[in-house]
Amino acid sequence: MRYGYFDEGNNEYVIDRVDLPTSWTNYLGVEDLCAVVNHTAGGYLFYKSPEYHRITRFRGNAVPMDRPGDYIYIRDNADGDYFSISWQPVGKPLDQAKYTTRHGMSVTTYECEYKGLRASEKLSIPIGDNALIWDVVITNQSDRDRDLSVFSYAEFSYHPVPIDNQNFQMSLYCAGSEYRDGTILYDLFYEEGYQYFTSNFEPDGFECLRDEFIGLYNTETNPQAVERGRLTGSFEKGGNHCASLQKNLMLKPGESARLIYFLGEGGYAEAEAIRAKYASPEKLEEAYETLRSFWMEKKRRFSVHSPEKGVDVMINTWTLYQAEINVMFSRFASFIEVGGRTGLGYRDTAQDAMTVIASNPQGCRKRIIELLSALTSSGYGIHLFEPRWFLPEEGAEKKKKPFKSPTVIPKPEGASKVHGLADACSDDALWLVPSIVEYVRETGDLGFLQEEYGYADGGSGSVYEHMKKIVGFSLKEVGENGICKGLRADWNDCLNLGGGESALVSFLLFRALICLRETAEYIGDRSYADDLSDTVTALQKSLNDTLWDGDWYLRGFTKSGRKIGTRENKEGQIHLESNAWAVLSGAADEEKAKRALDSIHEKLATPFGIMLNAPVYTEPDDEVGFITRVYPGLKENGSIFSHPNPWVWSAECRMGNGERAFAYYRSLCPYYQNDSIESRWAEPYSYCQFISGRDHTTYGRAHHPFMTGSGGWAYFAVTHYMLGVRPGFDELTVDPCIPKSWDGFEVSRVFRGATYRIRVTNPDHVEKGVKQIRIDGREASKIPVFAAGEEHAVEVVMG
Ligand code: GLC
Repeated sequence: MRYGYFDEGNNEYVIDRVDLPTSWTNYLGVEDLCAVVNHTAGGYLFYKSPEYHRITRFRGNAVPMDRPGDYIYIRDNADGDYFSISWQPVGKPLDQAKYTTRHGMSVTTYECEYKGLRASEKLSIPIGDNALIWDVVITNQSDRDRDLSVFSYAEFSYHPVPIDNQNFQMSLYCAGSEYRDGTILYDLFYEEGYQYFTSNFEPDGFECLRDEFIGLYNTETNPQAVERGRLTGSFEKGGNHCASLQKNLMLKPGESARLIYFLGEGGYAEAEAIRAKYASPEKLEEAYETLRSFWMEKKRRFSVHSPEKGVDVMINTWTLYQAEINVMFSRFASFIEVGGRTGLGYRDTAQDAMTVIASNPQGCRKRIIELLSALTSSGYGIHLFEPRWFLPEEGAEKKKKPFKSPTVIPKPEGASKVHGLADACSDDALWLVPSIVEYVRETGDLGFLQEEYGYADGGSGSVYEHMKKIVGFSLKEVGENGICKGLRADWNDCLNLGGGESALVSFLLFRALICLRETAEYIGDRSYADDLSDTVTALQKSLNDTLWDGDWYLRGFTKSGRKIGTRENKEGQIHLESNAWAVLSGAADEEKAKRALDSIHEKLATPFGIMLNAPVYTEPDDEVGFITRVYPGLKENGSIFSHPNPWVWSAECRMGNGERAFAYYRSLCPYYQNDSIESRWAEPYSYCQFISGRDHTTYGRAHHPFMTGSGGWAYFAVTHYMLGVRPGFDELTVDPCIPKSWDGFEVSRVFRGATYRIRVTNPDHVEKGVKQIRIDGREASKIPVFAAGEEHAVEVVMG
């Protein structure tokens, strides 16, 4: 069953059946202001932090779902009937009204046709403005005059969400509203700074008090103000606040009205300024164009044309978009994480920052620097941190009256921001080494390696020294079997091993060592590179000796020495992570690599993607970890956890199995589930954190869209391993691994400012291997770095 389609020309996903089985999300804004919105205009707005600077309120995991939001109600004053442009919250029966939602790149548009009226509400946050714009157009398509009243509605939140949710003796008595000359102002007494809500028209009424608008015994579905058709002009110091402006319209047949609303950071002056800025609708069209160009420029950096539509549509638009959104806003703003946690997760950010360096070098560099500053001098990362703990906030406004709570809110101070080894995750910082190397390869910015950054616990060192500390830490923190300690957890938060040893971490260390060695060789640090070579050789031998279980690699050892991920186990015999990384890191011997990948295929592959482990755990076992207390088939216990799936695609490509890599791609990629939403539930344009595994009653259902490492990893795996276009220190490599049936594909790639028009042909119908490269018609042995601004034709013949 389908609920919509990909509109490729407009880079939009169009939902033409809005009664979806779950919320489908989009993200608006590309700088500091961000709105998380769903397909019925539910959602919330925040400035920089969804936890500490929330602008609009959201009731998470509530009934009805995803309320409130950015609502426009249209009331026909002839009979008092009203509807909202986004299907909800009024929710007219779908056989009486037609609704469409278009989620695009940083814009979402709701459209509706009801009783001879056509209306649209387009939401976006222009680049350079800290304001969410609601662009509303209403057209009278009937043959009679229409007497309408239009009401906006958004509900304000106290900035710190924990207080907004729990401490009403504070939030209700120090948040206030007022109104002047068409602008609603929302103020917090303990904090400098306001929000405004204003419009491009002279309003006929306003309401600042939520309970006046809705009524205590009504809901957003039937607000008393809209039922009545008139706002009362309420405002107050204290209470719950909203932004409602009324506009009365008389529309003749065929006539349209455009109403533009602005919900932004600032006071009357900022409201005035934004009204002036967008006084003419052309200015708004220009802002849309700027936003469009922002994304077009990113798309231009890498675009593919292949025989597989689900590759082109996802890589050129949606997976790129998902990966970028993760880098922009980190993981803690969604309908799942609704403001309880912000900051950066070390491992998640370190991986995200590797994936879109080509399209967002500055954003990834910023994240990498934040991670470098949250590294301790002993070489482990601070698992969850606020960048401002360790770095001055970029462009931070000096607030005259910063938020100072009169009640105690425990906040980490000084040394307590730096947790000890007991709370360290063994994988966190290991992800950063390859990300840094990828950054240098992409940008050619070798100087970055010598830049100096502080350590979280004091002292400082160059980026190169940070990298050495990271591998040094993992080389030192090994257990009795010579495998890296798992510490609190590794990538799998729920596989705690009681603090035992993690095979995954040892393979990640192997990969980090290889990356560092290549860097050391490139910059001429010969003796260090030689030392690393010795370490790598010894480590490779010991990993293959200690961790091979016969048909696959172990997952680790518990503290008491029990093997995990062995055929000897009744449950959790085989795990994806250690096997994927054994191969992808290059540590696995050739034979073992093949066998390990075959075992993944035999034991873990499903039509919806690859399960994390099998058989599922059914008995709680705290020596193994929390994984054994999660229901079978959900989350880390035998679900199809999306994030590590592309690790297997990449590992298959490393071994030359293009057929299998693409079969896996198709099974997980949401594009291919557009017509089976009855089982998927979630949006088909974004990867979700996990899909229920075969041991769960909801097998095949996808959970937690957008904010997951699977977006970035899917993008990285397809671009770098499957299409095989990889930046090097001083060349661009094209080493595809594709299905035999492909005749070839084309990629346009910007690398260090030059454009490479790459055409890959596959005359012998192989899965991997390059027999010839031609540049601008002339045979070449490699693809060099061209001067910025140049354009070259690169032909790659497989065989
Ligand atoms: C979540 C966490 C991530 C972790 C994964 C597996 O996605 O954000 O850090 O690696 O779960 O446990």
